[in-house]
Amino acid sequence: MLKTPVVIVNFKTYPQSVGERAVELAKTIAEVAKEEGISVAVAPQNLDLYRVASQVDIPVLAQHVDSIAPGAHTGWLIAETLKATGAIGSLINHSEHQIQSEEIEQVVKRLRELELTSVVCAKDPEVCKKVAAFRPDMVAVEPPELIGTGRAVSKVKPEVVSDAVKLVHEVNPDVRVLCGAGITSGEDTRIALELGAEGVLLASSVVKATDPRAAMLDVAKGITLK
Ligand code: G3P
Repeated sequence: MLKTPVVIVNFKTYPQSVGERAVELAKTIAEVAKEEGISVAVAPQNLDLYRVASQVDIPVLAQHVDSIAPGAHTGWLIAETLKATGAIGSLINHSEHQIQSEEIEQVVKRLRELELTSVVCAKDPEVCKKVAAFRPDMVAVEPPELIGTGRAVSKVKPEVVSDAVKLVHEVNPDVRVLCGAGITSGEDTRIALELGAEGVLLASSVVKATDPRAAMLDVAKGITLK
């Protein structure tokens, strides 16, 4: 289970976070987390999960996993293998890898059965409410139009964050709400927490930074100085 408040860094498929570079980036993030005393997690590509999870002591999440069970299913990603890599859970339904509602429910169920953490992404508060009924560990609200823009959801659309928190907690107060899209600075993170989020999900501001350590430190300060 992820400790909150948390900063989750999604490595996506950026060239800066592939193979050994994924390990180096995860180590940098882990060092900053230790220095600042904050909770973090990283989500490298599935082919890098084992490599990263075996070399850092911070939680590692997959970016996607299928609901399919073990058996004769070539090319699918199953939760059992995810667990065997040392990952502790997975993002589900990221805006760049959306799946049907029934599939979201099935994946959440499979992860729960294997005691893995589920972080379901949703584009708006209404979808957050819908997926909260599946009892994931976390829901991350991410308006697609702000992803990768450097314009933080917590500043540009604060009502999206506070509405998501309200609607999700009406359905299930145990589901923790994160927000993402454009999160770049400590101030973006601090505002997100003030709006009721229990962490942030981000990518480009750290992964694509010329100085990922400084970028991560900036984001982390939003929690440290809270
Ligand atoms: O999963 C995080 C993501 O979609 C947000 O991306 O680049 O806006 O931090 P970014």
